[in-house]
Amino acid sequence: KNHHDAVVEITGMPALLKGDSKADTLEVVLEDAIIGLEVHLFYTVFEEYNVLARSAVLVNQSQEELCLRSAYSASVDLPQGEYDVIHFPGSWGRERDQVRTHLTMGLKAELESARGGSSAQLNPFVMIASPDADEVHGEVYGFALVYSGNHSTVAKIDQFGYLRVQQGMNPHQFEWKLAPGEHFETPQCVICYSDAGFGQMSREYHDLIRNNLMRSAWAKKDRPVLINNWEGTYFGFTEEKLLAMADKAAEVGIDLFVLDDGWFGKRDDDRSGLGDWFVNKKKLPSGIDGLAAKMNEKGLKFGLWFEPEMVSPDSDLYRAHPDWAIHVEEREPALSRHQLVLDLSKPEVCEYVIQVVSDILANANVEYVKWDMNRQITDMPCNGYNHKYTLGYYKIMSIITERFPHILFEGCSSGGARFDLGVLAYMPQIWASDNSDAIARLKIQYSTSMCYPIASISSHVTASPNHQNGRLTSLKTRADVAYMGAFGYELDITKMTDEELQIVKEQIVLDKQLQELMRNGDFYRILSPYDTNYCSWEVVSKDKKKVFLFVCRVLNKAQTKESPVKLQGLDEDKVYRNTLTGQEYPGSMLMYKGIRPHFRWEDFATDIFVLESVE
Ligand code: DGJ
Repeated sequence: KNHHDAVVEITGMPALLKGDSKADTLEVVLEDAIIGLEVHLFYTVFEEYNVLARSAVLVNQSQEELCLRSAYSASVDLPQGEYDVIHFPGSWGRERDQVRTHLTMGLKAELESARGGSSAQLNPFVMIASPDADEVHGEVYGFALVYSGNHSTVAKIDQFGYLRVQQGMNPHQFEWKLAPGEHFETPQCVICYSDAGFGQMSREYHDLIRNNLMRSAWAKKDRPVLINNWEGTYFGFTEEKLLAMADKAAEVGIDLFVLDDGWFGKRDDDRSGLGDWFVNKKKLPSGIDGLAAKMNEKGLKFGLWFEPEMVSPDSDLYRAHPDWAIHVEEREPALSRHQLVLDLSKPEVCEYVIQVVSDILANANVEYVKWDMNRQITDMPCNGYNHKYTLGYYKIMSIITERFPHILFEGCSSGGARFDLGVLAYMPQIWASDNSDAIARLKIQYSTSMCYPIASISSHVTASPNHQNGRLTSLKTRADVAYMGAFGYELDITKMTDEELQIVKEQIVLDKQLQELMRNGDFYRILSPYDTNYCSWEVVSKDKKKVFLFVCRVLNKAQTKESPVKLQGLDEDKVYRNTLTGQEYPGSMLMYKGIRPHFRWEDFATDIFVLESVE
């Protein structure tokens, strides 16, 4: 296999790549001679990871049509023992919360999404852990699906105390007809084992995902620090306003300006225009190419928002092709955010999307794309439809990302409702949540990091009071939380004071220093915002020479004395210097005694340490 080959080719779907790994795949062929079904099971192991990738191909070798009612990617029996299941449910603004449940005999944990996408309601990543497991101890198995459609993970203890865990596509409304000679391929499930807690498992996933899943060259490059206009202006922007924001952005060292929703068709609010991907010249007289050129003149790259999978009933596209919206014959499809979903099972619809997006990208200097999807899918016309839609989505993504390899693509779905390995295969970062409040983000980013690499978690500094929950936080706290992800700003920068702009300038310099570490380093979760009044995480470079430590005290208390925070993964024989203060500490002290954070006397206070080993 070559570097860019998948370890197991799955037609129309992404799968783990061979990369620089030594990987081996075992294919087991099972046959049901009575009904004429052949099942090929694929098991891939990697020399450097405690990972097992599983997928299956089902072949109809009979003379009659077969109907698949369910086709999981993996089914694993774990020996007798005590097990907890940890899953990541949520909603808009509260994506990937964390819930831990002890499994008992007779109780079936069915963790699923039937919303058409991987969803904010339940992420396609689940952990099975020994009851004593925590960040540093205990056995853990992660199950992550390389898939962006309806999914299901089932965990059930049998009469002998064995635990069976199955993960794959959701059997709900799945039924898939296989004509004689036809076959069906399941997506890949990536199982990761750790005998030293969640932390070790996460580090394995992070390395595997960035080295063996992400196809984008941007996975291995520093990301531009961006400013997005969405929370700054929403739909109420003019070219003049955007350029005024861009002037300030360029002044403080921001690299890229993202124009979000509202630049096309008739789109003054969210009630119309989706599908008409032609610039609205009333708002943007210079067009997208002209605006991009003006941004470039200011020294900024230019990025653009799209929501290509959707159509507004009030759009020229819908008026021309009402049949392109997903619907059940003779029934009115349900609107959500006033919009319908395009039928990506139709090749001509995929062609339209590819063409119309490509036209914009080929004719303007767009260097970043935010690819949004703002509603779930309903009114699916037939069994198996959701899989056909998902294949259409992957076809579009693979063609567009290959056609424009220089563009940095960011996934998004009404916040973080499509955060999964299928998306990450094409887009190296995903907007984690529309909830941009730093304190809400502690939990969101903490749990997202369980499986997904931190540099893939797009995180912005937004205004205070926060637009989603009204919380007031300092500019320092907002940036300190956002450094761990793909960092940017999303506010009306023209309203910032000179003092704030000076702080922003310094934050950007620091983020640029930290980027390489965040992209390649080992991530440690130190204090959980779920269990404590604190949140702390740490990133250590592979050579253990660079360290970033973040600590947040959520609520202030009278009469407190902060406990030292113990770092992990350092070289205890090295001496580390805090580059922000010049103070030096032995590695052994940082690991076994810990370092005491200094907080301002307020709620939502943070402290960060940027440490480098002293030669
Ligand atoms: C949802 C996204 O999460 C937001 O960031 C923004 O792009 C809006 N959609 C625009 O409609």
